[in-house]
Amino acid sequence: MPSRKPIVGGNWKMYTTQDAAAGLARDVAAGLIAGTGEGAGVEVVVFPPFPYLLTVGAVLRERGGPVALGGQDVWTQPEGAFTGEVSGEMLRDCGCTHALVGHSERRHVLGESDELVGEKLRAALSAGLHAVLCVGEKLDEREGGRTDAVNERQLRAALAGVGAGDLSRVVIAYEPVWAIGTGKTATPEDAQRAHAAIRAVVASMYDADAAEAIRIQYGGSVKPGNAAELFAQPDIDGGLIGGASLQASDFLAICGAAGGSAR
Ligand code: 13P
Repeated sequence: MPSRKPIVGGNWKMYTTQDAAAGLARDVAAGLIAGTGEGAGVEVVVFPPFPYLLTVGAVLRERGGPVALGGQDVWTQPEGAFTGEVSGEMLRDCGCTHALVGHSERRHVLGESDELVGEKLRAALSAGLHAVLCVGEKLDEREGGRTDAVNERQLRAALAGVGAGDLSRVVIAYEPVWAIGTGKTATPEDAQRAHAAIRAVVASMYDADAAEAIRIQYGGSVKPGNAAELFAQPDIDGGLIGGASLQASDFLAICGAAGGSAR
């Protein structure tokens, strides 16, 4: 079995102030350096709000640290008359190496279509970023037995036109919408089943090697107390963390659980 390095993302959503963001970044970087050292078995990325990217990036650089920087979203074009939007090139220019695309809050609060998410994914990749593609079903879809079908539809739409070479810069985040910010987590067994089905879709779109290599994070009410059992599942390669990423100690404990699951 090829080894997949677990990856933990901290999605700060529309939280923090500039000062709080800088402090959180400093504490996370310092904690990772002290706790796990260089070359630890986990990759860590934080996704601050756009206005704080430069501040957080400066803190992370100063620490010389192991934490990468990402944008919470990316527009489809490199530049142009798109008031309020931010391109992948701009994210790169601000020190980002990663971008989230298709987060459920953008799909379901802001109405982003599967097709738009696909355009954003391709834009992130063509700007040279790593993309974290979020997929996941809503509660009614889960109760209707459509979890795998929804994930497959979202994956196929987003990955259409993404070549095998670029797939190495894609991470998938499975985030069941009903588990986000609710305190309800998928059981490790349920999450594992969904992850295995997602990996099978990747195998059918690309090949078995691509499916084995791609990392699939779980997101949705991950906390220090449930992280280890989720990350111990064979197809769960770390997590995308919302609320618990706003507390350095909680986030560090979750990163530690992922590092401990490295295989
Ligand atoms: P919570 O961890 O707050 O449930 O959020 C998950 C999420 O949406 C991460 O992108």
